[in-house]
Amino acid sequence: MTEKPWDGRFAERTDRSVESFTSSIVFDRRLYLYDIQGSIAHCRMLAKQSIITEEEASQIVEGLGRIARDIERGNLELEESLEDIHMNIEARLFAEIGKAAQKLHTARSRNDQVVLDVRMYLRDEVANILALLKGLRQILVSLAKKYINVIMPGYTHLQPAQPVLFSHHLMAYYEMFKRDTARFNEALKRINVMPLGSAALAGTTYPIDVEYTAKLLEFPEFSANSIDAVSSRDFVIEFMAAASICMVHLSRFSEELILWSSAEFGFVEIPDAFATGSSIMPQKKNPDVPELVRGKAGRVFGSLMSLLTLMKGLPLSYNRDMQEDKEPLFDTVDTLKGCLEVYEKLLQRLKVNRTAMKKAASRGFLNATDMADYLVTRGMSFRDAHHCVGEIVRYAMDKNKELQELPLRDLKKFSQSFEEDVFEILTLQQMVDRRVSAGGTAKENVVKAIDEAQEALRLEGIVNESHEKKKKTPR
Ligand code: ARG
Repeated sequence: MTEKPWDGRFAERTDRSVESFTSSIVFDRRLYLYDIQGSIAHCRMLAKQSIITEEEASQIVEGLGRIARDIERGNLELEESLEDIHMNIEARLFAEIGKAAQKLHTARSRNDQVVLDVRMYLRDEVANILALLKGLRQILVSLAKKYINVIMPGYTHLQPAQPVLFSHHLMAYYEMFKRDTARFNEALKRINVMPLGSAALAGTTYPIDVEYTAKLLEFPEFSANSIDAVSSRDFVIEFMAAASICMVHLSRFSEELILWSSAEFGFVEIPDAFATGSSIMPQKKNPDVPELVRGKAGRVFGSLMSLLTLMKGLPLSYNRDMQEDKEPLFDTVDTLKGCLEVYEKLLQRLKVNRTAMKKAASRGFLNATDMADYLVTRGMSFRDAHHCVGEIVRYAMDKNKELQELPLRDLKKFSQSFEEDVFEILTLQQMVDRRVSAGGTAKENVVKAIDEAQEALRLEGIVNESHEKKKKTPR
């Protein structure tokens, strides 16, 4: 059946090229289950309000349930000429149950229908993303716990700066993903609004009960303004902004894993199962997974830009341009989920080379600040101490030695304040353990941060909750 529900006022058949140009069925078919669930709730509300009869409603609900199963099993051919998922399902419903099907669209428009579907889809996907983010935070915490005594060089400008606990570095990512979690939870509030009843743009003359529809579909609230409800996609943009920021974090982490797994660093080894070889150079093992995650950040940012650009010039209310929101949104969801999934697995099996990290932290004057701080405790001003240690560094470089390798008598040439106890302060362990300021790298701080994170994760719910929320089959 290819008759269009809107073809009454048309004298000509739609040109084939226009059909394929305007059709969205190849991508919006993904919304079918939400479309059906939304229609079932709408239909129940219509019956409750006596806008349609109970008999018609039960025919519709039954028919929609069959269609859901048919689509799921691949038994329903979705047609381009029927534009989108909404019209495909409606046409099929007519074929299944006849006349009653024609009442389903009472007090509704595709304009409120499509935004309902997208909102239902997105709240489920945000729940999936939140579960994946939780998994990622859990693995970060368990790695931080496992490697609590590993010391690595901390960097600024990618130049070795001061030693830090590897766990402190990992917990920095924990903080980022914790904020991402908060951002998705915040976006969820704006996603979780029920727009049905807004109809085309102005509302409807039928005595509908949107509160009831919202309740059936488990929405905590419904839209306050029908024009806004069909025109706005800022809930999509907000989600994409949160996704983009999350991709920034994954991309920076990836950049570090790529660097750290290079021969020059050798801090970590990516498990063979998560790396790939070269078709020409037999010795190569490439960090393709983090590289691809870093690369995929670009397409997620691109999708955010698409949506912002798509919306910026649109007059209220609905415009067909808005059909272009779906592909970038779906791509963002798929990309982010894919990255989070692979990351959790990759990190679980990451090999950490503590010796290489320690070696790198032991050379290159990472204890210069601590030496200056020592002079400050002996009464020197920090600026004088900084200058004095700068000269000692130059001297040590000439002698091809590290600061801790210089004899006390050499140090005394630069300042009489140096005593034997300076050497204790210059050790890696002391440099880390003495940084007890709030949020600093001292082990006691990091252990506390890990404990707090573990407790927060425990409170968030059961650890092994399944990532893919089981989809409800509509009755
Ligand atoms: N496929 C359309 C979309 O994704 C559905 C809404 C169509 N509404 C309309 N008035 N043509 O936006």
